Parts: sequence; C-alpha cells; structure tokens
Amino acid sequence: MEFNNHITITLTINGEQQQVSVPPMARLLDIIRNKLELTGTKEGCGAGECGACAVLLDGKMVNSCLIPAIQANGSSVYTIEGLAQKEEFNCLEHSFHKKGGTQCGFCTPGMLIASYQLIKDKSSPNREEIRQAMAGNLCRCTGHQKIIDSVADAIEQLTKSPEGQ
Ligand code: FES
Ligand code: FES
Repeated sequence: MEFNNHITITLTINGEQQQVSVPPMARLLDIIRNKLELTGTKEGCGAGECGACAVLLDGKMVNSCLIPAIQANGSSVYTIEGLAQKEEFNCLEHSFHKKGGTQCGFCTPGMLIASYQLIKDKSSPNREEIRQAMAGNLCRCTGHQKIIDSVADAIEQLTKSPEGQ
C-alpha cells in the first residue's frame, strides 16, 4: 500500500535512536516489521486480541497493531530482537525450549515479551499471576499449559540462581 505525506518521527529502537519516515496512518507494527525489518514481531489478528505483535513501549507491553506509529514519536521501543540481549530473556527462552512452550513459534515472540514484562514487574509471581499475565497472548498449538510451565520454570531458575548458574 502506498501513502503520501510521510512524517518523520524519532524512535529509540532496542536502545538505538533512529529517525523514521512514516505514513500518517501506519501502525507501529508496520514500521517495526516493514521499515525497520524487525520481523520477530508478528501480525496475527491485527485487532489487539492475540498478542503476537507485542512490544515494550516505554517499558510497558502494548499490542503494536493498535498503536499509530506517530503516537510512538519520542518513545523507546523494545522488540524481541532487543530483548534477546537480556539475561532474563535467555533464561525464558531456554525454559520455553525445555518445557515445550514453543511449537510452531508464531506466538512465541509475544509470549516472551509478556513473560519478560511479568518478571520485571513481579519478583516471584505464582502460577495464577503467570496465567493472568499471559491471558492476552493466544497460542493455537500448545494449549497454553506448556507456556505457563515454561514461564514458571524460568522464574524458578531466576529466583534460585541470581547469578544465572
Ligand atoms: S496482531 Fe496485534 S494483537 Fe493480534
Ligand atoms: S506455538 Fe504455534 S501458535 Fe503458539
């Protein structure tokens, strides 16, 4: 789709400030995937219901399919590619593999973003809190239980081993 009258916005993407020329009606998701080529962020429903497009916007998880790109002007955005540098993230990724929390992998970036946000917000969430934190992210493959098990496993590892051992 072609747009006219692009607007230049400033985003800090995964810690690096960039100026991006965006069509006025573009969604943050479009800019992340198509302009910045950060394709770890997925488009599922396109309507705010599946969490596949989740990113951190100024430290809070949002569904990027619902955010106009121009609204993010001046903000910090972390995508799955940026979070991959973090220690907690590596632990989560390992637990998802170990506990079968990822199958086709389509929902996994959003699931990892949601669980990373949970770990940042709460030091020791219980299973019900994990379930609630992941409620906005849908998975067609795993039945969700393995995802809850994966997040619980990562939290256990992080809690008992702050040095990452
Ligand atoms: S693609 Fe954004 S919530 Fe589903
Ligand atoms: S692993 Fe396939 S949609 Fe979740």
